[in-house]
Amino acid sequence: MPAQKIIFSGIQPSGRLNIGNYIGAISQWVEMQKNYNCIFSVVDYHAITVKQDPEELRKRIIEVTKIYLAAGIDPEKSVIFQQSAIPAHTELAWIFNCYGTHIADLNKMTQFKDKSGKNQESVSVGLYDYPVLMAADILLYDTDIVPVGEDQVQHVELARDIARRFNNEFGETFKIPQSVIRKEGARIMSLLDPAKKMSKSDVNQNNCLALLDAPEVARKKIMRAVTDSGSEISYDLKNKPALANLLTIYAQLGNREIKRLVKDNSGRGYGDFKKDLADVVVKFLEDFQKKYNKISDNDVKTILENGRQRAEEIAQVKLEQVRKLIGVR
Ligand code: TYM
Repeated sequence: MPAQKIIFSGIQPSGRLNIGNYIGAISQWVEMQKNYNCIFSVVDYHAITVKQDPEELRKRIIEVTKIYLAAGIDPEKSVIFQQSAIPAHTELAWIFNCYGTHIADLNKMTQFKDKSGKNQESVSVGLYDYPVLMAADILLYDTDIVPVGEDQVQHVELARDIARRFNNEFGETFKIPQSVIRKEGARIMSLLDPAKKMSKSDVNQNNCLALLDAPEVARKKIMRAVTDSGSEISYDLKNKPALANLLTIYAQLGNREIKRLVKDNSGRGYGDFKKDLADVVVKFLEDFQKKYNKISDNDVKTILENGRQRAEEIAQVKLEQVRKLIGVR
């Protein structure tokens, strides 16, 4: 029997996780853990690439872990761990800084350009180098598949390039991973501006539906979400991007097909559609938060410690192999 494929993915404990993170990433993971060997990390060393309040960061690490669990990641099946608990990640990232990564690669990263904006000279080196740490995360575990939202595909491409270059120089060492994104829902857009991605670091949280928003707050956000001109419910990404986004959210959280939703809403107005969507979102959040609230901080600590032990065993073997290849052992 061929060995089971390995899945690796992670989320930064920065800001409030939203339905974009859930639909684009976590909900894919939940499906995949049935058929694959899965490893999911709370990537805290990625979060410090921008300023974090230490107390807040500590809380967010626990919060993100609870979100994984409440969403249905099963710690018996999948490995869940905190990135900073395994120093092999940062060590391999350093080695990749020296072998496999070119300045030109990092200069191409669109997320760095977006996040640094006009301040490119004054943002941290970590923010610039972050895709290399991400490559280390992925490549340490012989990962086959990386389920992410669309905004991370370019970073996975870089991980592939780094792996290829390293293998060319030192012989077959790293598996070449592949990103997997959802056909629908790989890029959930802001509720108030359908040209902008829904982002957990957005200062205006009315753009986002957070997984821990009070359901009635979420209802108001949906009712205030922008719609497009016209009045007919149709899925048209180019001419009705706001509605297309709402239809996608409805389909994903309500387990419906977009085509079917459009048909069922024919002749109805945006207002009625949004009321239904708000009901779907409220139900989803109530169910989700019920599960979330049952998980204790102590459960999280135990699960992260178990995960660390399982992940570190794999990571150490790969790192030791790399140390030997480059000549420090
Ligand atoms: P992060 O923390 O920004 O986002 C976590 C995951 O959520 C997806 N996502 C979205 N999907 C759909 N619509 C959206 N609006 C949306 N916003 C975010 C992201 O694509 C991501 O899958 N660098 C990564 C974390 C990371 C990682 C890794 C991922 C570190 N190491 C190794 C995979 C493998 C990040 O900042 O994601």
